[in-house]
Amino acid sequence: MSKKIIITGGAGFIGSHVVRLFVTKYPEYTIINLDALTYAGNLENLKDIESSPNYIFEKANIVDAEAVKAVFDKYQPDGVIHLAAESHVDRSITSPLDFVYTNVIGTVNLLNAAKELWKEDYTGKRFHHVSTDEVYGALGETGFFTEATKYDPHSPYSASKASSDHFVYAYSDTYGLPVVLTNCSNNYGPNHFPEKLIPLMIHNIIHNKPLPVYGDGKYTRDWLYVIDHARAIDLVFHQGAAGENYNVGGFNEWKNIDLVKLLCKQMDEKLQRPAGTSEQLITFVKDRPGHDLRYAIDAGKIHKELGWAPSVTFEEGLSKTIDWYLDNKEWLDHVTSGAYQAYYEQQYAH
Ligand code: NAD
Ligand code: TYD
Repeated sequence: MSKKIIITGGAGFIGSHVVRLFVTKYPEYTIINLDALTYAGNLENLKDIESSPNYIFEKANIVDAEAVKAVFDKYQPDGVIHLAAESHVDRSITSPLDFVYTNVIGTVNLLNAAKELWKEDYTGKRFHHVSTDEVYGALGETGFFTEATKYDPHSPYSASKASSDHFVYAYSDTYGLPVVLTNCSNNYGPNHFPEKLIPLMIHNIIHNKPLPVYGDGKYTRDWLYVIDHARAIDLVFHQGAAGENYNVGGFNEWKNIDLVKLLCKQMDEKLQRPAGTSEQLITFVKDRPGHDLRYAIDAGKIHKELGWAPSVTFEEGLSKTIDWYLDNKEWLDHVTSGAYQAYYEQQYAH
């Protein structure tokens, strides 16, 4: 069946993988990538599919309600998969308002545009909001986030995502808008902007720069290969129950310091450096304020109800990811020139 789907944030890390999956798997769909191309948006991520007949790019800022409405009026989409966001916790600590504008107001603008366009008949329509496990707050040494875990965000980033989730539920409860949500753990993989842990460390190892580990490095994250997240979004968008959320995670917890050591080991092998070379670059630096100790997802619901499970092990995924960065040095050079240098100096000055 043909469908028109607006994917927001399709030029970003996860969005580009979702766009690629939908454009290639569903040639009968028209995929409209709506993205403002902020520092995190990069059309180079989509070079391989940009001339596909079922792919369209629209540059627009979701904070601008008129611009959003114009794109909805032009394409009359049946579905929205909403990934556009300010996504980096450290940036949210220095510029929280940017997160309120894009993540909260931008989401409400999209909800309004969908509600207005679909008001006569919600049949066959779907608004999929892509969110994070960080809305649930932090875990201690044990336990998992389930779909029933109470929201308890700590950073301005997670507070803005929690707020956007609440608006999505409110539009379902108040107006009957057919929504689904996914709350996913930390992703990694190709095209990840090198402000986040894994690509930042890969970039620094390549360039023999210090590897800045926050605090004591005991903070724990649950890592998922980005293509497995895209597969989960595909399933939930098509088969998820309206009004519900699905937790998505890798069943794959790592303390930051152990993860960085694994990366060092794999990269020493790939770069043919003597074992132990890159580990010497590890530098413990000032901690992030309000740093959440541990995230871990119970992905039992999406597994049981929709049959989803991660398709690659962490070692395989990490190896593929490192290979991608080593094979795409030009991409890495482009995104780390200019504004990135100023960001890095400011963030890691201490
Ligand atoms: P990203 O920062 O790599 O990409 C964000 C994209 O959104 C960019 O292309 C950017 O240009 C676009 N964008 C930002 N502000 C915009 C605006 N005002 N209007 C239009 N476009 C705008 O982010 P990501 O890591 O790919 O995350 C995508 C989504 O998934 C986000 O909603 C994030 O909260 C969620 N998420 C991310 C992770 C993760 O580990 N990265 C985990 C769970 C959930
Ligand atoms: P990050 O990739 O920013 O994702 P999130 O904060 O959304 O989980 O960070 C992952 C973990 O790595 C987090 O505990 C913070 C830590 N971290 C460092 O130790 N050093 C760094 O330079 C960065 C960017 C993150």
